Amino acid sequence: MHKPRICKILKVENEAENIKTVYFKDRMISSRIIPGQFIMVWIPGVDEIPMGVSHIGLNSELAITVEAVGEATERLCSLKEGDFIGVRGPYGRGFSPPGLSNLIIGGGTGMAPLMPLIEHCVREKVKVNVLLGGGSLSKTPFIKKLKNILNTQLECFKVTTEDGSYGCKGLVTDLLDEVLLKNSFERVYACGPELMLKKIYEYSLERRLPLEVSLERYIKCGIGICGSCYIGPYRICVEGPVFKINELEKIRNILGEWTRDSSGRLIPLK
Ligand SMILES: Cc1cc2nc3c(=O)[nH]c(=O)nc-3n(C[C@H](O)[C@H](O)[C@H](O)COP(=O)(O)OP(=O)(O)OC[C@H]3O[C@@H](n4cnc5c(N)ncnc54)[C@H](O)[C@@H]3O)c2cc1C
Ligand code: FES
Repeated sequence: MHKPRICKILKVENEAENIKTVYFKDRMISSRIIPGQFIMVWIPGVDEIPMGVSHIGLNSELAITVEAVGEATERLCSLKEGDFIGVRGPYGRGFSPPGLSNLIIGGGTGMAPLMPLIEHCVREKVKVNVLLGGGSLSKTPFIKKLKNILNTQLECFKVTTEDGSYGCKGLVTDLLDEVLLKNSFERVYACGPELMLKKIYEYSLERRLPLEVSLERYIKCGIGICGSCYIGPYRICVEGPVFKINELEKIRNILGEWTRDSSGRLIPLK
């Protein structure tokens, strides 16, 4: 599980502007992973970085959905079918299994680790409501895929874009009242920019919603030994990346305020 395994890239799909979905096979990951866990991806000659898994398919097929934001992710996005990556994992704690009715909230590529959870809900025929937020239509991943996946089992699928180019104009958190006043949910799951998660956390706390969020911090070892991913008392790579609402209480003052860079220095979040 901890030794990197070399995998051939099977397919690369354009997901949105600067965002690609990369397909590969790995039996170790596919046989153990639960939605929300992450893997370490080695990009030859560049770096090893943490990635959520955005698809868990049949015959060991897996996918990651990558936004090009720096050297490693740009190189990963430039790889083609037949190129190679190294993978190890799965790591961390994933989401709890879905209940009978579920609300899933994603912001941009934050929707990536939520996608296998949605696939799971559809397979188990439990209710799934999805809210997806992005900057604009061209920069928001998964719209088409979600429309296809949810076609048969659509409770509600709503998209917001900040520029109004698709769905409702605004932020995904603007939809919380509308959706939550009409429905009650056994589970609420969220992943995306930390300011969005903070808003959802405060909202859920007031209304006692059964929230779970996936957080990001700088990850180096991925296995709990280097200490670079600490947030309050938690290591993101072992105790996270998924946290339940009661666990967030201990990091309430950090959430949406501070992160750490590669040298462990605290830096304010914008
Ligand atoms: C658990 C987890 C799951 C993630 N899942 C996804 C995903 O599904 N899709 C996706 O596009 N991105 C995901 N990320 C973020 C991704 O790991 C970073 O964008 C990537 O490491 C940036 O590397 P870079 O060299 O391209 O950019 P850099 O120029 O090195 O950095 C750009 C930004 O990414 C952050 N970053 C850089 N290296 C790391 C690292 N080792 N760990 C965490 N953050 C880092 C930096 O702090 C900076 O904010 C995830 C991160 C974590 C912690
Ligand atoms: S990344 Fe090393 S302890 Fe979490």
